[in-house]
Amino acid sequence: MKHRPNGSDEKSYIMIVLGIESSCDETAASLVLDGKNILSSVIASQIDVHHKYGGVVPELASRMHIEAIVPVVDQAIREANLNIEDIDAVAATRGPGLIGALLVGFCFAKSFAFARNLPFAGVNHLEAHIYSLFLADRKPGFPFIALVVSGGHTNIYHVTSYDNFELMGQTRDDAAGEAFDKVAKMLNLGYPGGPVIEKLSKTKDPGAISFPRTMLEKGSFDFSFSGLKSSVARYVHDHSITTEEKKAQVASSFQEAVIDVLSKKLINAAKIKNCKHIGVAGGVSANKTFVEKLFFKAKDQKIDIFAPSPRLCGDNAAMVAARGYTMIQQGALCSLDHDVFSRTKIN
Ligand code: KG4
Ligand code: ZN
Repeated sequence: MKHRPNGSDEKSYIMIVLGIESSCDETAASLVLDGKNILSSVIASQIDVHHKYGGVVPELASRMHIEAIVPVVDQAIREANLNIEDIDAVAATRGPGLIGALLVGFCFAKSFAFARNLPFAGVNHLEAHIYSLFLADRKPGFPFIALVVSGGHTNIYHVTSYDNFELMGQTRDDAAGEAFDKVAKMLNLGYPGGPVIEKLSKTKDPGAISFPRTMLEKGSFDFSFSGLKSSVARYVHDHSITTEEKKAQVASSFQEAVIDVLSKKLINAAKIKNCKHIGVAGGVSANKTFVEKLFFKAKDQKIDIFAPSPRLCGDNAAMVAARGYTMIQQGALCSLDHDVFSRTKIN
């Protein structure tokens, strides 16, 4: 028998979507009501396994997704206090990401939808990160500039509607999160690098070491973090960086260089596109120092900053269900012969 979730009234209740995410090192499932109310969001992280290798090992990731997918979906249904019959539609991440990892969640979702005769949407992971901004209490208004900044991407979009994401620029080499991870590895701080670098940075002056800020050609919204990474590597090689204090100095100066470049490009993009709102999403948007500094830099220009709640910054399935909901409403469905994709593809 179908249940009615807590808080939904007869008229407004339309659809419960099961979202599934498995593009990298998190297996996640979530039930979302009408694309906006999160009924449950379960995330099984593989960080402990990949930690000892200093980065994600794709083959291990796929195997762990296979082990986790059924219990995680099961837990998401239980935590929402619902039954399998209550699910009206299914959405899963289709790409970009690690092919083997994506295949686990996507094929599970496809089979689930086929077995239960439900509509099924294949969601772009980057669009899903933008949708995490719509799940927050404070949401950006259209048009706005969005930054998806994670271990795999540093993309700036001009977002003009729920379906229109114009890519303005992206990284030409390392993603910002990847640079955090690589610098953390140089300093023997473990994986993932972002949270530990942010924590260490709080103790030191961000202006102690002058690392480069690569802005590329005038007017470009692309990024390049490989020069900064090499500069940190040279500094670590040339100086004896063994104490916590010295590590903190490098971490703090590195983080400041990343924040400076991201903030300048975002504010320029907002000015050029005449946007008063900027939203940041993806793992690196969990960095409070970044969001606070961006907020103060943008304030002078009367631009407001938006970020997802902390549990929705990194990979999660609620954002996948939210994006899937609009696709399902519009009939943008996947059939059984649709496949996953590894590289950036939007719309
Ligand atoms: O979005 P996400 O969970 O997965 C990808 O799609 O990549 O992002 C993971 C990335 C990692 O590179 C991690 O170091 C970074 O986000 N990250 C952070 C912070 N928390 C996670 N970077 C900077 N500061 C943080 N607090
Ligand atoms: Zn992601």
